[in-house]
Amino acid sequence: MYAKGMATEPDVELAAVRFVCELFARNRHLSEGPVAVEAPESTLEAIRAQGIPEHGRALDDVVAEMEHEVIGYGYNADHARFLGFVPGPTSAISWLGDIIAAGYNRHAGSFANYPAGLAAEDVLLAWCADQAGFPADTAGGLFVSGGSMANLTALAAARDAMLPEDAWDRGVAYVSEQTHSSVAKGLHIIGIPREHVHAVSCDDAWRMDIDTLEDAIEADRAAGLIPFAVVGTAGSTNTGSVDPLREIARVCAENHLWMHVDGAFGASVLITRYRDMLDGVELADSLSWDAHKWLFQTYSCGMVLVRDRANLLNTYSTHPEYLKDLQDRTDLVNPWDLGPELTRPARGLKLWFTLQAMGSAGLAEAVEHGFTLARWVEDECRKNPDIEIVSPAQMAMVNFRYAPAGLAEDELDELNLDISRRMLESGYAGVFTTELAGKKVLRVCAIHPEAKEEDMRGTVQRLNALYAEALETRRA
Ligand SMILES: Cc1ncc(COP(=O)(O)O)c(C=O)c1O
Repeated sequence: MYAKGMATEPDVELAAVRFVCELFARNRHLSEGPVAVEAPESTLEAIRAQGIPEHGRALDDVVAEMEHEVIGYGYNADHARFLGFVPGPTSAISWLGDIIAAGYNRHAGSFANYPAGLAAEDVLLAWCADQAGFPADTAGGLFVSGGSMANLTALAAARDAMLPEDAWDRGVAYVSEQTHSSVAKGLHIIGIPREHVHAVSCDDAWRMDIDTLEDAIEADRAAGLIPFAVVGTAGSTNTGSVDPLREIARVCAENHLWMHVDGAFGASVLITRYRDMLDGVELADSLSWDAHKWLFQTYSCGMVLVRDRANLLNTYSTHPEYLKDLQDRTDLVNPWDLGPELTRPARGLKLWFTLQAMGSAGLAEAVEHGFTLARWVEDECRKNPDIEIVSPAQMAMVNFRYAPAGLAEDELDELNLDISRRMLESGYAGVFTTELAGKKVLRVCAIHPEAKEEDMRGTVQRLNALYAEALETRRA
């Protein structure tokens, strides 16, 4: 199997162990370097030019190349001051759990393949469904790759539960102006016409406006369309806002609609003392929850949870002849019957491992820290009269902009973009822009359990300094 000069299996194992040990040691200090390292064009060109060799190369060379030329560039979303997107601060415990699970590389599509691994995933899914308040006797779920897949998986089940097959093109789903784009993408994939994804306006706290929702449902029905689902958000991507879930549940019950909650970011609040923020989520039919966001797991680790597992089975269960040998335990439901994937890794195991090692209280405390981080940012912002708080601290997010008198709106947009870019170039923190009410604003999403008060206040203070520099450049 091995050609002369090629790496052998034991070589590879040794190299892997060494690499993992070194990386683990460094992983604990990921916040020491800059938040972003730009890949030189020459590096990208070299990778492209190298192509795929016909014959294998010396393993040490390939390992060194992976380490120095491939994986180290880009944004370090694990950095304590990376405050863009939803950052990915990874618990070292999750990382270790991931390595162990990947090392064994078990096929986690069915219980027969991986009985204890899937029992652990099942316990965890039941615990998460219980945190959401779903009924224990019917609830179920599945670990999927992330929030986008969780939304898609749930929405296909919603479509099948609520719409006859010959009426998919008349189905209407309601989202808000602040709903994550993956929801509309998922609806498109499952065959709902783009013009039937109704974006309901929000109130001034970025929450779905219920009167508008009710009017829209009535108007669509009158036009011969078939409303079938409302998607509420628990922790919106821009501001961390939570839609009025209890009200959405009432509207869904009155109109016979499926209620999905996108909690990809904010469902983690369910395990904390802030749980009441998600009041009404227990009435939903389905919930998305990303563990690779605010539960500190390595990618990719999302969950779709449903009030009634029968709905996932209805959409996804298949019984081909080549899998019959693995289906004799009728008391167990195989993951491949609950979602689109057949072969899958046991993505939930690292979270199970994390919870065993940290306990739910330890994890809750780490999530709650995000609330404190956002408050420190807001507090520091309020000291500068030129800063306008556009959306105050909600969950772990704050939005603000530098808005000195005398500049037009488009000039303010340019100014804030300029400040964000200067910060990224400095390597100190990652603060990106988004748009709210037509304004370009600086958005902070701060969830790193090891980030400190000085990181948060220091970031705003440096933004203040960069603001002064940017104004200076404008005047020059
Ligand atoms: C509210 C919300 N839903 C869905 C997603 C998509 O999740 P993923 O990137 O894991 O697919 C995100 C990502 O930030 C999100 O914030």
